[in-house]
Amino acid sequence: MHYPLTPIHCRPWTLNGLSMKLIESHYENNYGGALRRLNAISASLDALDFATAPAYVVNGLKRDELIALNSTLLHELYFACLAFGEGRPTEVMAQALARDFGSVDRWRAEFVAMAGALAGGSGWVLLTWVPRDRRLVNQLAAEHNQGIAGGVPILALDMYEHAYHIDFGANARAYIDTFMRNIDWKAVQARYEDATQVAPPRPLVQPEFADLPSVSAEEVHAMLARGEPVQVVDARPRHYVSRTQDIMEGATWRDPERVHEWAGELTKSEPVVVFCVYGFHVGCRTALALREQGFDARYMAGGHAAWRAIGGKTRSVG
Ligand SMILES: [Fe+2]
Repeated sequence: MHYPLTPIHCRPWTLNGLSMKLIESHYENNYGGALRRLNAISASLDALDFATAPAYVVNGLKRDELIALNSTLLHELYFACLAFGEGRPTEVMAQALARDFGSVDRWRAEFVAMAGALAGGSGWVLLTWVPRDRRLVNQLAAEHNQGIAGGVPILALDMYEHAYHIDFGANARAYIDTFMRNIDWKAVQARYEDATQVAPPRPLVQPEFADLPSVSAEEVHAMLARGEPVQVVDARPRHYVSRTQDIMEGATWRDPERVHEWAGELTKSEPVVVFCVYGFHVGCRTALALREQGFDARYMAGGHAAWRAIGGKTRSVG
């Protein structure tokens, strides 16, 4: 595949405190260099016979491809983040930053401190939208190939020395301040609006139990911590429990094959939380059987494994 060049988006002569010489060198040598490397690597990969190529060749080319591709993409974002301005976020971005960082000042302090922490080294500081959590985060990418999986970067600050040395020498702090003044916030807002249209990963539901009420392990943890009345039933299959060593603290084990025998020992005046090993069929079926008998029963999503994964307390049995 051949990657086309993206023309420089910012107007270098309008920038406040970043010289045309610096921007041109950065664009032509570093962005252009990354793109040329990417296309050379891509051509090598296109010509490669993967069935016979040595592993180190495949490894090396694919690693170099990732670095060159991300360097290309981030540089395109960087040049699209710059415009002459006051460095003040638009109203939409100010609200988004305040929502996710507490305030614009707090976001700025973190972003600038992260850039300062890279001074003398190299890397990127990125403002990235994470669709899974529907929020913005500041992230460091000490190399071109470090990015939040599934994240959408909307603002990029290049802290490689080539991005400032021509104008600022070793004074990275002056470069950071100048960059912050030249952020094109309207463009950032446009990318933010596009990024927030990216759908989060779809929830992982068991299709046959999609309508059955569930509760997360975190919620159960909070209910127990608050001392809320709740009957917690460990309904892991007998063959599983007989070789296991621990049980969730506050839970009572019941044989899921004998719901009709023990259901009468529960009270209908308190909710019931049921779980099995991983939260698939057994816990769901048991919760369903209890609901059919009139209990306010829900299954704990993720089961015993989820409880342990959140660091929930267990006690040993046997
Ligand atoms: Fe760069």
